[in-house]
Amino acid sequence: MPFVNPLRMLQDARSGGYCIGAFNLVDFLTLRAIVEAAEAQRSPVILQTSSASVKQLGIKALVAMARLAAGESPVPVALHLDHGTDRAVIREAIQGGYTAVMIDGSKYPLEENIARTRDVVQEAHAHGVAVEGEVGIVAGVEDDIVVRQDAAIYTTPEEALEFHRRTGVDFLAAAIGTAHGFYKVQPKLDIDTLRKLAAANPCPMVVHGGTGLPLDVVRELVRAGAAKMNVSTQIKQTYIDGLHGYIEAHRTEYNPIKLLDHARRELVAMIGEYMQVLGSAGKA
Ligand code: 13P
Repeated sequence: MPFVNPLRMLQDARSGGYCIGAFNLVDFLTLRAIVEAAEAQRSPVILQTSSASVKQLGIKALVAMARLAAGESPVPVALHLDHGTDRAVIREAIQGGYTAVMIDGSKYPLEENIARTRDVVQEAHAHGVAVEGEVGIVAGVEDDIVVRQDAAIYTTPEEALEFHRRTGVDFLAAAIGTAHGFYKVQPKLDIDTLRKLAAANPCPMVVHGGTGLPLDVVRELVRAGAAKMNVSTQIKQTYIDGLHGYIEAHRTEYNPIKLLDHARRELVAMIGEYMQVLGSAGKA
């Protein structure tokens, strides 16, 4: 299937009461594992790249790799730029073939966040590209974006509505207490606010910080109306632990194909489990 714009996927998820996983890739192996899991689970999927991955691999290579994998796949696959903060990189993604971009203006005051987001929406929509915005501030570490826990600001339904009305974003990241990276203490989630945001807002809601949430909490977030959930750190951990585990068990074997294959299989299993908990399995 050719790449798809994820908006339709997310609207279907919203009305169908399930959630689409957006998984951050770091290379071709993680990309393949995400698509393979989606095929095994018959799930729509969003491939995401952080700005750090863009710096590492470049938009052209990322689009080419993702197009190749999506083109051979029977399930719908979207390619999304996660946490775009640099306007030039966002433009490159829009013009270079991404089907969605996130403009993260959350560190700016509301008016400036609105102005920056609206500017991206205008350009992206002219290219048929969907846009995710963020209102409120999600804490934690996401590659090169670091936000301390005490700097997090929870999203209010009024602010989210105004943000959506004035920017025209297609989907919206809500700060409800989840955080990027591993949780050092149990997060204080405001699931009731997510429920209100999802009920009041005309656009699908996004939950960041999917790694480390207990599975029953993930299910509750989906029931409350999360239509897109981002998972990144868990991908990196499973990948690296998979490599370590294999190397430790086969210290004198020098076969990178077997080593990488092992890590890929671990990733496919882990991502498939997320798709089942999110309820997107069987929806493609
Ligand atoms: P985690 O790294 O906690 O899974 O968060 C991912 C994320 O929200 C990316 O935007």
